[in-house]
Amino acid sequence: MVCERAAAFVQRPCFNPAWLVSLALAAIISHTALAASAEKGRAAYIAHGCWQCHGFAGQGGITGPELASHPAPMEAFAAFVRTTNGAMPPYSETILSNDDLTEIHAYLESIPKPPDYKTIPLLSDVRQ
Ligand code: HEC
Repeated sequence: MVCERAAAFVQRPCFNPAWLVSLALAAIISHTALAASAEKGRAAYIAHGCWQCHGFAGQGGITGPELASHPAPMEAFAAFVRTTNGAMPPYSETILSNDDLTEIHAYLESIPKPPDYKTIPLLSDVRQ
């Protein structure tokens, strides 16, 4: 029986490896779902023209600030995009669906943080 064999292996009275397998599967599935959502988010980010002011990788541009890596929590992010009345035009649900907005948020979160310039020899040499 699986339980007895596993018990001998881990030196525990009764260890069921099934939960480990399901934990691993859950991690893989949620990672895949996140990646898929970020992928769709990138398409929505481009289709809705966010890149025009915030840059293709959310790095910021002349017009819009950086959005990559650490966007505000979803609720605050959505509230801003829906109701802003400054230099950025507000995006109502009619033109930008909640699903697209959630995926854009996932995309921005998925962008890796750039390395500290001090860890890049060429840049740290120049600044000394
Ligand atoms: C016409 C230029 C323009 C476009 C297009 C645009 N933004 Fe912006 N965005 C801005 C500017 C400028 C700001 C700075 C705040 C302000 O002045 O409104 C800003 C701020 C933001 C902020 C707040 C950032 C912060 O750090 O406070 C978020 C979030 C944001 N934009 C998301 C988006 C998303 C998502 C899209 C696409 C659906 C988008 N923006 C499209 C110009 C733009």
